[in-house]
Amino acid sequence: MSAIAINPVHRVVRFYEAPIGKKAIMALTGVILFGYVVAHLLGNLQIFGDPDQINKYAAFLHNPANAGLLWVARSALLLAVGLHILASLQLWKLKNDARPVAYVKKDDAAATYASRTMMWSGPIVAAFVIFHVLHLTVGAVVPLQEIAPNEPNVRANVIAGFSNPLISGFYILAIVLLCTHLYHGLWSMFQSLGFSHPRYTPKLKKGAAIFAILIAIGNCSIPIAVMAGLVK
Ligand code: HEM
Repeated sequence: MSAIAINPVHRVVRFYEAPIGKKAIMALTGVILFGYVVAHLLGNLQIFGDPDQINKYAAFLHNPANAGLLWVARSALLLAVGLHILASLQLWKLKNDARPVAYVKKDDAAATYASRTMMWSGPIVAAFVIFHVLHLTVGAVVPLQEIAPNEPNVRANVIAGFSNPLISGFYILAIVLLCTHLYHGLWSMFQSLGFSHPRYTPKLKKGAAIFAILIAIGNCSIPIAVMAGLVK
């Protein structure tokens, strides 16, 4: 074995220490979180189906036989959130250390509204997720109803929560911010990993915008439908 050989763990650590390693982790964890948001939305849209449908889906997820899988998914999600935040803070620090005095004139043409809001839309979305878990998983905001022990009445809980315009308003605001975050995160992920091309970047931006808008419409449709009395 060569004297300078390094083991795979060291390789990963070295890769992460470079800015490109942090960007790759941001991208990988971003894709995992994006996948969760899409899957979660598809699950939630079942509220527009048969009245029992979403509760049957929740009963499946909460089935003790699936508990192991559920906790593996929850742990992977938490790890992805933690690494996404850590890498973003480290990249932000690197950028600040490299240019401690900000430019007097900001290049607004290059920095879109979404990109300028990344560092505050991220924390607001994180605060929303904490509120949301306290609301619909823990039941600390509105008491949760159950069909049977360990079988949440998700339909009733969603309707009870979104009947409050303040709660619905907060969700809609947070979802819009989440979607500007997703929009910028999606297309800039390709750019920061080096897939930048004058021909493809505008297409990527358009694709990211379409995805983000669809996710915003899908998520916002639930509180809006409850407030409009369309889901009872
Ligand atoms: C109007 C839109 C949404 C509705 C109706 C909704 C509904 C729910 C419900 C009912 C639960 C509890 C599931 C259960 O215990 O069986 C839940 C959990 C959760 N939601 Fe949402 N959600 C929405 C949007 C979002 C968004 C945008 C995110 C992410 C940014 C998100 C992230 C989560 C997370 C992380 C959990 C905890 C999962 C777990 O306990 O395993 N949700 N959601």
